[in-house]
Amino acid sequence: MTETVAAVKRITEEHGKDEAALISVLQNVQAAYNYLPEESLEVVSRELGVPLSKVYGVATFFKAFTFAPRGRHVASVCLGTACHVRGGAPVAEEFERRLEIRTGETTLDGQFTLETVNCLGCCAIGPVVVVDGNYRAHVGVRDVSALITEFGGGPR
Ligand code: FES
Repeated sequence: MTETVAAVKRITEEHGKDEAALISVLQNVQAAYNYLPEESLEVVSRELGVPLSKVYGVATFFKAFTFAPRGRHVASVCLGTACHVRGGAPVAEEFERRLEIRTGETTLDGQFTLETVNCLGCCAIGPVVVVDGNYRAHVGVRDVSALITEFGGGPR
């Protein structure tokens, strides 16, 4: 039994192997690994007695779940309408250029994952960028390098 299988089994046992706890179990697995390893979904399916297709269905429905390893830091650039018209797209492009990744990817050193989102509900302060849950307002292209450095990505 691999370490992942054993760890995911423990998580399902903590939830009483109850099918109703599927989302909570997936949240705990994601918290443990920062993503949902493919192997973990098979274990969840088997231990909870839920078809694998349903496990995948739930995991793909909620945007909070990811199937690829994420970086230690996650930068989310808002590209909702209000942020877009105020320059959100060039900000996202500057992150891509400095981190040398495309949106949705993680840097090779595992430091940063870059995402875009469609409105964070604070349009008046756009363009908005959220790094590790910290909201930054009126972000411009010139602010990107400092943001990456501030959150542990080193100078880029
Ligand atoms: S469009 Fe960016 S916060 Fe609403």
